[in-house]
Amino acid sequence: MVLATMWSCSDHGALKYPQTVRTGRASGGFPDVPGDGDFDRRVQVMRDTVQPTVQWMPAYAIGIPQIDGEHRKLFALAERLHQAMLDGKGKTVLVDLLARLVEYAGEHFAHEEQLMRRIGYPCLPQHQRQHLACQSRLTAMQARASAGEGTMTIEVMQFLLAWIAGHIEESDQGIAAYMETSGQVPR
Ligand SMILES: [Fe+2]
Ligand SMILES: [Fe+2]
Repeated sequence: MVLATMWSCSDHGALKYPQTVRTGRASGGFPDVPGDGDFDRRVQVMRDTVQPTVQWMPAYAIGIPQIDGEHRKLFALAERLHQAMLDGKGKTVLVDLLARLVEYAGEHFAHEEQLMRRIGYPCLPQHQRQHLACQSRLTAMQARASAGEGTMTIEVMQFLLAWIAGHIEESDQGIAAYMETSGQVPR
């Protein structure tokens, strides 16, 4: 009872850019990217912006084995797109990758929400809203890619990097912290 009243819940826990992103701008965030008609330039911005790779790092571990494993898979999907971009194949794999991401993110979010219900996590409503917002953004990007829009790879990468890492650090960590505080053992 005390835990629930002490716990701070927020709808805005997934807006922080990850440590893997280096922008070169003092103000932080991503640099402005060229318009949709200049794909080669956008690829160059991508190369300059995200170095050297998009990878899960131990700092992202929250200590819940199943969730950490699923996060690693989300990073692996993002890394596939990143590598395809560097190889000049970003547009080719975008539609397929987005479909996989929508499907896998949906499974992962469902697992997290089951866990939050099981442990009585007080921030479930806020966390669930973040998942829904991510899913609707991914679904919208998937629809645009399927409709033939091939110049949105940078946008997808920016969203994935910012969202996955930011959400893990700001929101998913809260689940593990709550379990620890309430004496529940991760499994
Ligand atoms: Fe997660
Ligand atoms: Fe989450």
